[in-house]
Amino acid sequence: MTDALLREANDATIQEAATLLKAGGLVGLPTETVYGLAADATNAKAVAKIFDAKGRPAFNPLIAHMASAGAARSEGVFNPSAQALADAFWPGPLTLVVPVAKGAQVCDLARAGLDSIALRVPAHPVAQRVLKSFGGPVAAPSANPSGRLSPTSATHVANDLGRKVDLILDGGPCDAGLESTIVGCLGDRPTLLREGAVPIERIEAEIGALARPDIDPDTPSAPGQLLRHYAPRAALRLNVHSPRPDEVYLGFGARTGAMNLSPTSDLQEAAANLFAMLRLLDETADRIAVAPIPRKGLGAAINDRLERAAKRD
Ligand code: TXA
Ligand code: MG
Repeated sequence: MTDALLREANDATIQEAATLLKAGGLVGLPTETVYGLAADATNAKAVAKIFDAKGRPAFNPLIAHMASAGAARSEGVFNPSAQALADAFWPGPLTLVVPVAKGAQVCDLARAGLDSIALRVPAHPVAQRVLKSFGGPVAAPSANPSGRLSPTSATHVANDLGRKVDLILDGGPCDAGLESTIVGCLGDRPTLLREGAVPIERIEAEIGALARPDIDPDTPSAPGQLLRHYAPRAALRLNVHSPRPDEVYLGFGARTGAMNLSPTSDLQEAAANLFAMLRLLDETADRIAVAPIPRKGLGAAINDRLERAAKRD
């Protein structure tokens, strides 16, 4: 346990948290649902640190936490259902998945390359104050290592993540102890993507019946399975040592091509560049060859994502 990082939330430590976020650091902070592992959502390197700290073998898109519904509207496009839900439940434990806005600042990695974005305006006073002093979108998954329970106290975060975070703000135990409800407002019918702290009945009282994809309650990864994964248009060939003449090469380390995920073989940097570089190459080429990426640490998630993209699912 590393108590040194754990500080009671007050004016000074909240300011410190905002400064750390601006510098690309990781902060554990309370929300009304569970504690979040927060980073600047516009800074792909900072977001890569979240995935590294959680030890997750895949990149899931993250929720961008915003100080207000007004701020959220500059990141996402709200249809009438999304607007009605934002009016009724924000600030609060509801996350809306909407099409990403033109000029949105949240980085590709935080969205896992998708054209949609998950937005939430938390009600917890500490989260609110951090978001206001920081002044931008904050990516924050639950602050647990992959496969562990979501943390509902600052001590859980300290025990689970310890030195991997730069600061943990203690705001007491979380009220809900259950993650936010997630509703997708992408097509004609709003869709329940994850059950959570706002009961479905309350949501349906606002906007009528939600579409419910078959969610198996015994399968905790169900929300992830509902995701349409980012798929490039170009054909992708992986673990390529030397590209063919008709391929553009996405390099890594000493293997350099049209672009290089990380000339210094830094996996955090490679994760930060992955989606943006794939997108750029996809716009200019029909065939992309990717250099081998080691499978250790964040390399597992990078390879997982590349393999899905290569399958063109
Ligand atoms: O209560 C909460 O929501 C907490 C607190 C910290 O805010 N956060 C949280 O984040 O539970 P996380 O990363 O553990 O869960 C986010 C969920 C994932 O299941 C992810 O797949 C889904 O949101 N998600 C994010 N963006 C999405 C998108 N564009 N489309 C569909 N699902 C998305
Ligand atoms: Mg989680």
